[in-house]
Amino acid sequence: MAAPILVFDSGVGGLSVVQALRHRLPGAALAYACDNAMLPYGRREDAWLVERIQAVCQAAVAASGARALVVACNTASTLALDALREGLAVPVIGTVPAIKPAAAVSATRHIGLLATSATVSRPYTLRLIRDFAADCRVTRVAADALVGEAERLVIGESPDLAAIRRTLAPLWTPASCGEPVLDTVVLGCTHFPLLRRQLVDAAPREVAWIDSGEAIARRVAQVVTAPDHDASAGPSFVTAPDRRLATGLAAFGFAPPRTLQPA
Ligand code: DGL
Repeated sequence: MAAPILVFDSGVGGLSVVQALRHRLPGAALAYACDNAMLPYGRREDAWLVERIQAVCQAAVAASGARALVVACNTASTLALDALREGLAVPVIGTVPAIKPAAAVSATRHIGLLATSATVSRPYTLRLIRDFAADCRVTRVAADALVGEAERLVIGESPDLAAIRRTLAPLWTPASCGEPVLDTVVLGCTHFPLLRRQLVDAAPREVAWIDSGEAIARRVAQVVTAPDHDASAGPSFVTAPDRRLATGLAAFGFAPPRTLQPA
């Protein structure tokens, strides 16, 4: 197999980025790695997380022989991109909340950000809001519960629709007199686009749902200029064996996972 583009996430969220990559770079050799032993990342302590992400990504890049690493995780990217770039010899492409494209399309200038507890309050995220959405009201919602629901969906279980509705509720709090109505929601966690249908169904009205998948795929296509074409199932890597996760990865075109031993 050609040296693959390695997609990394804490769990199955990066598979939403895999979908975008397959669309933009059909046939490109892909590998997938997730730190399912330590999922979810969204409530973990920063210093510990930086070390853990470095250890898992280093092990996965070495095991896959990757030519580039896509950190398909907002929680990891808003914290550890610099550290990863310092420690790895391959190009590293990150994923950050799509605040800029959301601000570009919002007509009412009120946007929502759905992300993990960590991502909604990271300085990186607050800078994105200040730099690209200074004239918007941004309602930030910690939506960690949706991570688990997306994990359930990928292993073949039904997501809990009531839990999804409850998690989204703060987005729809009635605006007080004169306040603009929210018309655009940023999916600032790669798990969430996997639940797009359930999110649309749970919303009380039509809004634009914006994720980073396409933008990442565009960036990867610029960095990896001549991707090899390879029809074989790409390798996958986990940090804890899990039979149902293996079935989920197979549905996205990946070979049975090998278990990494990060240092
Ligand atoms: N998929 C990850 C993200 O984009 C986070 C999930 C987690 O909390 O581990 O932020």
